[in-house]
Amino acid sequence: MTVIPLQTNQDIDQGRLREAFGVFPSGVVAVAAEVDGERTGLAASSFTSVSLDPPLVSFSVANSSKTWPDLRRADHLGLTVLADHHGEVCRRLAGPVEHRFDDVRVTASADGAVTLDDGLARFDCTIHREVEAGDHTIVILRLHAVEHTDTSLPLVFHRSAFGRLSESA
Ligand SMILES: Cc1cc2nc3c(=O)[nH]c(=O)nc-3n(C[C@H](O)[C@H](O)[C@H](O)COP(=O)(O)O)c2cc1C
Repeated sequence: MTVIPLQTNQDIDQGRLREAFGVFPSGVVAVAAEVDGERTGLAASSFTSVSLDPPLVSFSVANSSKTWPDLRRADHLGLTVLADHHGEVCRRLAGPVEHRFDDVRVTASADGAVTLDDGLARFDCTIHREVEAGDHTIVILRLHAVEHTDTSLPLVFHRSAFGRLSESA
């Protein structure tokens, strides 16, 4: 096998970087809450588990986000792992704010955390820490309640498109 060495000191343009990042498949979560009586939220594929003790997860939010400054004011945030049938819901959660929760069944906790009723996993969280990281902020969340189902497959985001895992034999 011929191995071509990685060329260092590349002038990395954002398009190539986006494509390279897109090679890595991920799930997608909805981050949502009621803020000033309004459902507020967005879709994020940057979710990752972080720590078991204390229970922490994270996602990264673009500093250009118009929703995050409102969402971060919520007492509690809801986080829902989307299922493979949530492609359209995901697109909506990333689209115009006034339609993000159209035709989506959600439940709000007393603290304002909003989760999707048919999500694969639902978390109730508060912000543990926000870490500046370039043009994004890494948001570390502390979990207060967790619920999950094993019956459906996750929505998969890969190379800027939605896919699904195949059932194992
Ligand atoms: C599949 C998918 C994954 C996304 N992942 C992220 C993410 O991890 N972080 C982020 O800031 N925005 C992400 N977005 C974009 C947001 O959902 C939203 O469109 C963006 O924040 C702009 O809306 P806003 O200005 O209301 O925040 C993603 C969108 C899609 C469709």
